[in-house]
Amino acid sequence: MKAIVLAGGSGTRLRPLTHTIAKQLAPVANKPVLHYAIEQITSAGIKDIGVVISPETGSQIKQSLGSGEKWGAQITYILQSQPAGLAHAVKTGMPFLGNSPFLMFLGDNLIKEGVSHLINQFLGQKPQALILLKEVEDPRAFGVATVDKGMRVKKLVEKPSNPDSNLALTGIYIFDPLIHRAIDRIKPSPRGELEITDAIQELINMGKKVIARPMSGWWLDTGKKEDLLEANRLILDESTTLSNCGITDPASQVSGSVQIGTGTTIFSSIIRGPSVIGEDCCIQDSFIGPYTSIGRHTTIRETAVENSIIMENCLISCVRRLEDSIIGAGANIRQKKKKTDSTTLFLGNNSEVVI
Ligand code: TTP
Repeated sequence: MKAIVLAGGSGTRLRPLTHTIAKQLAPVANKPVLHYAIEQITSAGIKDIGVVISPETGSQIKQSLGSGEKWGAQITYILQSQPAGLAHAVKTGMPFLGNSPFLMFLGDNLIKEGVSHLINQFLGQKPQALILLKEVEDPRAFGVATVDKGMRVKKLVEKPSNPDSNLALTGIYIFDPLIHRAIDRIKPSPRGELEITDAIQELINMGKKVIARPMSGWWLDTGKKEDLLEANRLILDESTTLSNCGITDPASQVSGSVQIGTGTTIFSSIIRGPSVIGEDCCIQDSFIGPYTSIGRHTTIRETAVENSIIMENCLISCVRRLEDSIIGAGANIRQKKKKTDSTTLFLGNNSEVVI
């Protein structure tokens, strides 16, 4: 079996971050989202992986994943000229996929349970498609599946206003090669995209076997700020290690699950887990955590940070309290030398500031 990982798209909902980085490379617990998918795919035994990239961010994705050697995998890059939909991405990947069944994984999705069970079920039951479903409170923002008692999928509707069930389609699927024929038969949706939901519905219309697997662990689509912060919390919650490769002075306290990178110095600060601090950071007179990830080469002074993702090379100084925040690489946030009531900002397009 092969795998295709979708790492193109435009990531508009995660601007301004996605003006400069691919959304699949946004760090969760200091590791790019996309790496979690590659880890799960390769640990399930799939080593032949196609990664769909866009002209805008493709080179970053290539740089981050390389040849796949790090995971014992072989990665083939598939350039999708425009984000014309998930089924269009599969169509673009056709020369790579050939006649092989394949696992499809959206590169901005994170799941707890890995993909081995899914693969085993597909190989055992031999459907034309196997989709992973998750019960959600409000299914109206998702593709929604109607299934029978035996988990055979009867109907799929994209973002229904009156959903028949609360089972949402996650971003993980397994297909046999017949999906290509179904994709050839569908037309672009009203939003102009070739939808994978329509292609799966087409398989159902063709009388083919489409089955679903309900998912027990968490599933997150990291396409929005709140989801990225939640992913950061969930992943940090699962790490139980305390590893301190840095230097912590006696006036500091580190408690809970905390990872501190080599070359990092902690002075007169409290670090509360779960949190991760990258290499060569300097934390001084500050309170960090819980649920905070700090990228490498970042300096934080006289600041309290909680439930946040701070990327690399940032300087944050004398900000009383920062919470629920995502700060892109190289950002500089500091208090004015002379205290005034005014706020001075220098922000890129689509930035968000809550004061
Ligand atoms: P989406 O989150 O559905 O789309 P998007 O990346 O364009 O984001 P936004 O809505 O915020 O503008 O995409 C899910 C995943 O699939 C994501 O990793 C990007 C990828 N993708 C492609 O590779 N090609 C595509 O044509 C589309 C639509 C998405």
